[in-house]
Amino acid sequence: MAMFWKMVAGGLLFTVGLALLWGQVEGQRTGRDKKEVAGDSIIYLGQERDPWRPLIRTTANLSEITNIKSSFHFRTFDPEGAIFYGDTKNGEDWFVLSLRDGFPLMQISKEDVLVSVTGGLKLNDGKWHTLEVSNEGKFVILLVDGLSGLEVGMQSKQTQEVISGELRLALGGILIDKDKLIVQFEPQMDGCVREGSWLNLSIPWEVEAEELWLCYQNIQPGSYFAGKGLAVFNTSVFSIDEDRGFRVEFWGDFSQMDGTILSVKSSQDELLFTAAVSNSTKEVIVTSKAEKIAVKNSFKRLLITFLKDLVKVLPDEDESKLITLAGVVSDPGYFTTLREAQLAIGGLLGEGIGGSHFLTGCLQKIQVQGKDLDLDLSVKHMSVSSHSCPA
Ligand SMILES: *[C@@H]1O[C@H](CO)[C@@H](O)[C@H](O)[C@H]1NC(C)=O
Ligand SMILES: *[C@@H]1O[C@H](CO)[C@@H](O)[C@H](O)[C@H]1NC(C)=O
Ligand SMILES: *[C@@H]1O[C@H](CO)[C@@H](O)[C@H](O)[C@H]1NC(C)=O
Ligand SMILES: *[C@@H]1O[C@H](CO)[C@@H](O)[C@H](O)[C@H]1NC(C)=O
Repeated sequence: MAMFWKMVAGGLLFTVGLALLWGQVEGQRTGRDKKEVAGDSIIYLGQERDPWRPLIRTTANLSEITNIKSSFHFRTFDPEGAIFYGDTKNGEDWFVLSLRDGFPLMQISKEDVLVSVTGGLKLNDGKWHTLEVSNEGKFVILLVDGLSGLEVGMQSKQTQEVISGELRLALGGILIDKDKLIVQFEPQMDGCVREGSWLNLSIPWEVEAEELWLCYQNIQPGSYFAGKGLAVFNTSVFSIDEDRGFRVEFWGDFSQMDGTILSVKSSQDELLFTAAVSNSTKEVIVTSKAEKIAVKNSFKRLLITFLKDLVKVLPDEDESKLITLAGVVSDPGYFTTLREAQLAIGGLLGEGIGGSHFLTGCLQKIQVQGKDLDLDLSVKHMSVSSHSCPA
């Protein structure tokens, strides 16, 4: 057991540092044509890939592990996602640290015992945090910024110690089947890790990508669109109620944006609605099938409500600025059309999920039907960051 705990504890000590985040992460090619980086590199976990697949991973011999502490700094506004994974015996015994609802969540499988523990303080406040996991006897203790975070005790009836074999570590994903987890979570994490010190090992990590993306030096909450792609949802995932209508709301500085904010397209490929900002005319232009209206882009909040026979567009909750568009869909099956449509944030829907007129700018908050929209659940272009904007 002890060696397993060493691995676990080793994976998780976060320490503070003052590294500048701009600058390409230096990588080197390995013989197997995989890039390698140092364990203390800056790693943007939100990089596009199969979301369960770790972004970087490494393997060490258990016999070489002398130190039970690992550390890294972690920063995110994302409430949910995979952070760190470790295993022995080729995945028979494993450990996963993730966030869920903003809280750290540890899940551990060791021989006949499977545990999960969550609680403490929310970590998704966009600040760098120092976490530390230590192993004291049968307990694994997670410290957050030096204070007690989580503690879990485990006792197995089996006492066999793992003292040889390989230890695998991974960031941003897991190496076991997700069905083995006790608590399921969305793996995608729009977050950043730096200054990792893993069991005091100096071995390089293998990168599961051509190159590593950068972390922004400073971030603010929001969804950032770089002008290169959009995020698409099927409207069937929202509960669209004919009486209350379908509400989509955006917060942000519209005078600092350019491009399409919202587009809705029917399953018959017909564009039903668009809202776009023009940085050159300083206007927000909303169009339905029949109408097109432009307003000055000097507001910070935009509510769009699709009703049975009209669309209401309300800037800044100011009823005096209310715009109504008629004739979005003339047929009586409008809500059926709307329920089977595609909705895109950050671009104009085109063929499939392709698109154009992409948005450049930060949407500080997006709500659909009064609930925060998590772009991690969309089909989105890799240039869209779901929970953080550069500040
Ligand atoms: C682990 O040890 C084996 C043999 O003992 C060796 O072949 C292998 O290269 C070592 N792996 C690492 C990552 O050091
Ligand atoms: C960590 O590793 C370095 C060199 O690799 C070594 O000098 C140092 O003693 C190790 N620290 C601990 C606590 O094992
Ligand atoms: C929408 O639903 C279709 C069919 O179920 C699916 O193939 C597609 O991937 C979904 N698109 C998005 C953006 O979720
Ligand atoms: C808006 O236009 C100004 C002036 O042309 C430019 O500096 C700025 O980068 C533009 N902003 C966006 C989001 O395109």
